[in-house]
Amino acid sequence: METTLLLFKPDALQRGLVGRLLARFEDKGLQIVGLRLLRMTSELAARHYAPHVGKPFYPGLLRFMTAAPIIALALRGPKAVAVVRTMLGATFGIDAKPGTLRGDFGCSKTFNLLHASDAPETAARELELFFPDGLEAWEPATAPWLWDPA
Ligand code: CMP
Repeated sequence: METTLLLFKPDALQRGLVGRLLARFEDKGLQIVGLRLLRMTSELAARHYAPHVGKPFYPGLLRFMTAAPIIALALRGPKAVAVVRTMLGATFGIDAKPGTLRGDFGCSKTFNLLHASDAPETAARELELFFPDGLEAWEPATAPWLWDPA
């Protein structure tokens, strides 16, 4: 089992897509083990996006991510990191395939709705940033019918 970080970016909240997006992850069988509504500070955004410092889109990305509230989620499930990345689709909505979340809900390069960790090591770093007090461990009632036996 893995846990990954998912962010609903400011455009997802502004467009009123939170319920529909969240439902897709619940439908998939991923478990919510952390959930926070927050306004990203410049400091948090800089730490989260440190790997992108110096890239041409970095200043605009930080402006976008700090412009309005976001929702941070920790999602747990089998191969959760790769599963969630696949669900998001290509980085930009204009390129993302139909059936993926960015493919179905967006057509912008800037406003791409969601962020998800790209590897288990990245997930560990990003989860610590957004959930410094840890995550909630609970056993879903559906687990025996949802996930393969250990
Ligand atoms: P995200 O998953 O949040 O991780 C890094 C973000 O940088 C990415 O989604 C995009 O929002 C943004 N990004 C990456 N490449 C570009 C680009 N070429 N132009 C604009 N934004 C980009």
